[in-house]
Amino acid sequence: MNTYIRNYSKNELIEDTGRISWTSPSNIALIKYWGKYGHQLPCNTSISFTLNESKTTMDFSWSSKDTPSDEIVLDFYFENKKNQLFEDKIRAFLEKNRELFPMLKFLNLEIESTNSFPHSAGIASSASSMSALALGLCSIENQAFDLDICEADLIQKATYVARLASGSASRSVFPEVASWGENTLTSIKSSDELAAPVEGVHEVFKTYRDSIVIVDGGEKAVSSRAGHALMEAHPYREERFKRANELVETLYNILKSGDTKSFCDLVETEALELHGLMMNSNPSFILMKPNTLAVIEKIREFRKESGLDLCFTLDAGPNVHILYPQSIEEEVQKFLSSEIKPLAQNGLIIHDRVGQGPERFL
Ligand code: DP6
Repeated sequence: MNTYIRNYSKNELIEDTGRISWTSPSNIALIKYWGKYGHQLPCNTSISFTLNESKTTMDFSWSSKDTPSDEIVLDFYFENKKNQLFEDKIRAFLEKNRELFPMLKFLNLEIESTNSFPHSAGIASSASSMSALALGLCSIENQAFDLDICEADLIQKATYVARLASGSASRSVFPEVASWGENTLTSIKSSDELAAPVEGVHEVFKTYRDSIVIVDGGEKAVSSRAGHALMEAHPYREERFKRANELVETLYNILKSGDTKSFCDLVETEALELHGLMMNSNPSFILMKPNTLAVIEKIREFRKESGLDLCFTLDAGPNVHILYPQSIEEEVQKFLSSEIKPLAQNGLIIHDRVGQGPERFL
């Protein structure tokens, strides 16, 4: 039985109308989720930094329906304009998972969503938007109906719901460092159904910066859904999942110890492994662009010359996330302006950092 399903009726509706607003960040995976099974469950554990600046703000309003109905009444606006495509996607998600939110029978919903980053920046927005959506829905349910769900339980349901909408979104509801997926490590508290905060992380990693070099802001060449599907018949499938889980253990020890050098080695290896998996898939994808490699080479040269612990990771696309502690920010910023900016599309580098997770405003 799913413990997240609360059954309530219209009699428990205590606020006929109301408004709620959440801001939720994107995250950058250090150990990647790549491959899933069953109902949105990951084939290996992933670990990410929660970001601070790249985020979605969602304003929700609700009003009670005149007559309860199975029809999902939803109006969705993106960047101040009605967005039918996103509305249909969210409606389809809610229809598929309607048992999670009995409130859908009794309420009309309106959602206005905006992102802090430009649409053309090629930043995956599903983590920030789907975590904001999940948090908003869970909060509306709790506030409009007399449910009295405590904060911790609300966040648990939100990570569960966010995961169903987009796997990586499950990690975004937590501050700083989060994991998702079952693991034999007792300190990793996440399961395949629920993400969780990673505890015991050394202070230096909480100061990390993520300068996102936009090499190409265009549409993703391979959607996440198609990408995960590539792992189903992948020749290195079993080896990958075994290895990723081992890397989680190594990364966890690094995160605890504060060893920023070992962090660089591990995070870069893992990023290239993700791209290696894509190159070895059938069909095969090369998601890096010439400037992705040029940026990587510059980072490695600069690290060698300066002795500074900056490194890169990649998402399922050509943009490069440059990770480094706050203590070397000044030197890295100079390097970015002189060496990296010319390689970025329209000179675009988005400066982000490890953040404290979602915030509720209303
Ligand atoms: C490469 O979470 O976007 O960013 O569950 O199908 O929505 P869906 O996939 P998604 O996949 C993210 C893949 C990744 C790695 C990661 O964030 O862990």
